[in-house]
Amino acid sequence: MKKLTGLNKYKTAVFISGTGSNLKNLIKFSIKKNSPISINLVVSSNKLAKGLKYADNKKIHKVVFNYLKQEKTEKKILNILFKKKIKLICLAGFMKILSKNFIKKFNGKILNIHPSLLPKYKGLNTHERALINGEKFSGCTVHYVSNQLDSGKIILQKKIKIKKNESIFTLKNKILKEEHKLYPKAIKRVLSNL
Ligand code: GAR
Repeated sequence: MKKLTGLNKYKTAVFISGTGSNLKNLIKFSIKKNSPISINLVVSSNKLAKGLKYADNKKIHKVVFNYLKQEKTEKKILNILFKKKIKLICLAGFMKILSKNFIKKFNGKILNIHPSLLPKYKGLNTHERALINGEKFSGCTVHYVSNQLDSGKIILQKKIKIKKNESIFTLKNKILKEEHKLYPKAIKRVLSNL
């Protein structure tokens, strides 16, 4: 198997909007010896995103855009991505919808993680809706990004059981733990198929 060095790892950008636990986990994954990716850029749609501190800690280049003007913002982001020779984009709690044009530029190279068993519960408040509906199972999904919300071909999914006394909080944390295992696995799968 090809030995991965900093030079031939896939240059990756992680897009966030909030807490950044997936970002933290992907950074940890990226610095493992055999990881296929390096994280070279963090893009945030929120200047107050807690996750930005993980970029600071590891001195990863970060940029923040408020997305008030989507077209202009995406143009700026694309420029940075091309300049930094980014080959893969991982959305990790990024709460903006990318335009068709943006997705086309990185076709098949944008992944997203979502805390439900897609196609069920796209969008927001997934855990709350799953609990209200009395679901017995939930989980998380890594999928390619298409121009429709939380859609696109599924790469990997992990199913977990919902307990009788489950709260939004316990379910969210249980699923986040699984997300942290699933995202690196999905990345490896995608890159080994290229
Ligand atoms: C994660 O649960 C992720 O699956 C979800 O936001 C959370 C971000 O957590 N993403 C979506 O809902 C996308 N539609 P994090 O900031 O701690 O990684």
